[in-house]
Amino acid sequence: MSGAEQVGGTAAGSGGAPSGDGHAAPRHLRQGFQAVRWQEPLIMEMGTEGERGVLPPPLEPGIRAVVGDPAALIPAGLARPELPNLPELAQPQVLRHFMRLSQMTMGTDITIDLGLGTCTMKYSPKVNEFLARSPKMADLHPWQPDESVQGILEIAYRFGRMCCELSGLDAVSFQPSSGAQAIFANASIIRAYHEANGQGDTRDEIITTIFSHPADSATPAVLGYKLIVLYPDEKGYPNLEQLEAALSERTAGLLITNPEDTGLYNPHIKELTDAVHAAGGLCSYDQANLNGIMGIARAREAGFDLCHFNLHKTFSSPHGSMGPGCGAVMVRQACAVSCPVRWWSSTASATSSTTTYRRASARCGPSWGTRKWCCAPTLG
Ligand SMILES: Cc1ncc(COP(=O)(O)O)c(C=O)c1O
Repeated sequence: MSGAEQVGGTAAGSGGAPSGDGHAAPRHLRQGFQAVRWQEPLIMEMGTEGERGVLPPPLEPGIRAVVGDPAALIPAGLARPELPNLPELAQPQVLRHFMRLSQMTMGTDITIDLGLGTCTMKYSPKVNEFLARSPKMADLHPWQPDESVQGILEIAYRFGRMCCELSGLDAVSFQPSSGAQAIFANASIIRAYHEANGQGDTRDEIITTIFSHPADSATPAVLGYKLIVLYPDEKGYPNLEQLEAALSERTAGLLITNPEDTGLYNPHIKELTDAVHAAGGLCSYDQANLNGIMGIARAREAGFDLCHFNLHKTFSSPHGSMGPGCGAVMVRQACAVSCPVRWWSSTASATSSTTTYRRASARCGPSWGTRKWCCAPTLG
């Protein structure tokens, strides 16, 4: 009997009932399941000093006579002062290491009913992989004229309107390729907003919470913001008093995940966003944990100026190594004005007989990125 038959037969018999023995995996995933496990060290623990995977041939004297020492061509500011600390391995060792790791991977298709932390993973229908790989999506020329891609622009336009409706916000960009990039974009938009109002230098603090996703603190830190991190009270989430103690004329904004990565939804979110606005800050909503509240609670009514959805989590864009993902950014009109994000959604203009779709920006970046969002609307 093959492994696949064993798993299927057991699943039908057990119905996937909890095992009751303290293990997280449902019984039908464990019974009869066998996979290789290697006692594989970290690659940094492997290798021998001086071992090389590739040995470039010595420079031929004729070439050296013309170009001189190739190392001398590297500008001083770009040359490393010391060698990087890399593992020193031969090619077969590298190959075996990664083959062993790949064989230990269970893959999302069979572990999908196991909780995967905050990463609200879901099954992406295989037809969507097919759509995402279609040359009609993947091979669009970056400078292809709008007239020749009306269908793609219509999908972008209509899905963009759906995202605006779901968030209650006004403008959308599909440019960021992940949730973390979207949060970085939103922190950049907050900065641009305050700069446009002459407060770019004075508003240098971002407030977040310890159980928001780490990207909500890491990305503003990369932009040079000072971070204030709030901790939960006895109910499990930060309260208004804590936030008010952190607010000042230095507050640029609040970057918060809700439900937090603990899974708890903070029901006082509107009081928090009102307090930030009263202090002159903006509020950015990390909605990568949107699944449980989509269509029930919107960013606008919760008082947010910016938000993002992870289309590779809440919707059905390809995920993981089959990505790339897409962090769709939505903002209020006031924030879109001075936005450093290159807007990649489309606009529509209608006459009595036809509707024409255009890219919102003259250029949309190095590629269309259609693989990121093209099949997202089919699941959500
Ligand atoms: C709440 C939350 N925000 C942001 C992210 C970052 O998204 P990505 O992994 O696409 O960068 C995640 C991903 O785990 C998340 O769960």
